[in-house]
Amino acid sequence: MTSQQPDHLSTITQFILERERDRPDATGDFTALLNAIALAGKRISHDVNRAGIADIIGLTGDENIQGEQVQKLDLIANAQLERALAPTGLVCAIGSEEEDEPVPLEKGENGRYVVLYDPLDGSSNIDVGAPIGTIFSIYRRKTPLGSSTNSLEDMLQAGADLAASGYLIYGSSTMLVYTTGEGVHLFTLDPQIGEFILTNSDLKDDNGTRVYSANEGHSLTWDPVDLEWVSQLKEEGYSSRYIGSLVADFHRNLLRGGIFAYPGNNASPNGKLRLLYEAAPLAFIMEQAGGKATDGKRRILDIKPTELHQRTPLYIGTASEVDRIMSMRLEAAATR
Ligand code: AHG
Ligand code: MN
Ligand code: MN
Repeated sequence: MTSQQPDHLSTITQFILERERDRPDATGDFTALLNAIALAGKRISHDVNRAGIADIIGLTGDENIQGEQVQKLDLIANAQLERALAPTGLVCAIGSEEEDEPVPLEKGENGRYVVLYDPLDGSSNIDVGAPIGTIFSIYRRKTPLGSSTNSLEDMLQAGADLAASGYLIYGSSTMLVYTTGEGVHLFTLDPQIGEFILTNSDLKDDNGTRVYSANEGHSLTWDPVDLEWVSQLKEEGYSSRYIGSLVADFHRNLLRGGIFAYPGNNASPNGKLRLLYEAAPLAFIMEQAGGKATDGKRRILDIKPTELHQRTPLYIGTASEVDRIMSMRLEAAATR
């Protein structure tokens, strides 16, 4: 990781306000929006920390639209985000991994933004105390103000049009990372005072560490080229790190260097991860940090979604590592 160490203590609100001061067109709306997400993040962090003692661990018994078992904390996190965003009046609708359809927000008719999120990423790690997270995307609304608020047109935008994206990680500490396209900024929650404090501004991906993160348990279903790629990495002495929470694997690789891969396979050519809630927001951050993200053929940020819950293969991390698997895949496709 390379980054500029802040020379003074700054809360996330002070940091955004300072940056907005340099932009005469800024309305303060974005500050309010990010503050709402930070507030939801603090509440989710609190819930996550108390999960084992508050009877909020375990399954609800329902499945979400993607056929996955829903955990109680998935729904709690989903509700905390909606509850924090709705009163701002800045958001016309939200899209969530835990909601089948876009959800119009009360008071959101004149909201200029749409927000999409994975409320709780890494649900399978909730019960075992491993890091989990929240991933969010903020797009500018495309439909006219005052019109119907849950239009798919507003939701189905390419990552290249993101106004901002970020994530929270609930790990040994709670951190919030975001970008608006002017660098990547990292804040750490000081639980004593309940504020996110700037710890690293303008974070850059470190391309020094030779690490790959993939679920090799699935490797027998992979495309041969993905298998060949991982064998090459092994021969070159790479280490493997995989916890099974995308946020945690991504965050570690962002700070230390490395590549995360969740390839497609014959049964699920688009893999598991969701374009709008997981791949695109993290791709924006990775590119801002100097790294890259691809589905094996295209830049993730160039993919224009056609469905809300669309999945995509994902290779994301240090630029030279992403270039390597991308050229191997393109070469293999050309000779088929
Ligand atoms: P979610 O908990 O939001 O459904 O996401 C789970 C994702 C992601 O966090 C992780 O990288 C991946 O699932 C792990 O899948 P495998 O168990 O197949 O490795
Ligand atoms: Mn997820
Ligand atoms: Mn989730």
